Amino acid sequence: MWRYPRILAHRGGGTLAPENTFAGLKRGMDFGFRAVEFDVMLARDGVPVVMHDPYLGRTVSGAGHVFDYDALELARMDAGSWHGADYRGEPVPLFVEFAQYCKAHGIWMNIEIKPARGFDRETGDTVARITRALFADDIASGALARVPLLSSFSLAALDAARAAAPDLPRACLMSELPPGWEPLARSVEAVAIHTNHTHLSPELAQVVRDAGFGLFCYTVNDPVRARELLGWGVEAFCTDRVDLIGPDFGIA
Ligand code: G3P
Ligand code: MG
Repeated sequence: MWRYPRILAHRGGGTLAPENTFAGLKRGMDFGFRAVEFDVMLARDGVPVVMHDPYLGRTVSGAGHVFDYDALELARMDAGSWHGADYRGEPVPLFVEFAQYCKAHGIWMNIEIKPARGFDRETGDTVARITRALFADDIASGALARVPLLSSFSLAALDAARAAAPDLPRACLMSELPPGWEPLARSVEAVAIHTNHTHLSPELAQVVRDAGFGLFCYTVNDPVRARELLGWGVEAFCTDRVDLIGPDFGIA
């Protein structure tokens, strides 16, 4: 069962602003979003940054891999120009600053642990420790609805996150549910399955929910499709089109 916000802005503010940036986050907030998905990986110095690709070039000007640079070097790079001149100089956010901002503004987070190849456990461990420290007060007071959900395609990253911060909830990202998906999800004590909606069927949605998992889909950008998925029992999803699908979408 899903206990979190239902509609999330994907990568901060979807496609209306540069992904995984403060500008994107604020664009989502402009449309009323107070729940967000974003991606986190480690820089060379082991400091996590908010970024999707393990290499520069698409969203960040430059060349090489994220792990070729220290976090503060990345934080001085331009993660905005690719989207438009208005966003030139928009930095790569440090994860801790991004998460602190979200917490301070009451924005619930689905933190996707996105390890570069070979850094699975290290990334899961680091992201979980920082998140745990940041939300220690809410965990202690039982305000669990405020605590972020950690998700990943990497079971090793989720396993390391569980070891580092067992009281943070985890979700398995599975583009298409493989045979044996359920024991895999249970092996990291996942509370939810996050799956690509294009591979989902009503029957599969039922199976996932009957097994007791929350069911979340990515990335749903068409309101007609969104209604269909909610009709299948999908409990939550993220969207790139924060202008077409608002935070209260689907509530009559
Ligand atoms: O977490 C859902 C979704 O973001 C997973 O795919 O590639 O957009 O990070 P991706
Ligand atoms: Mg993601």
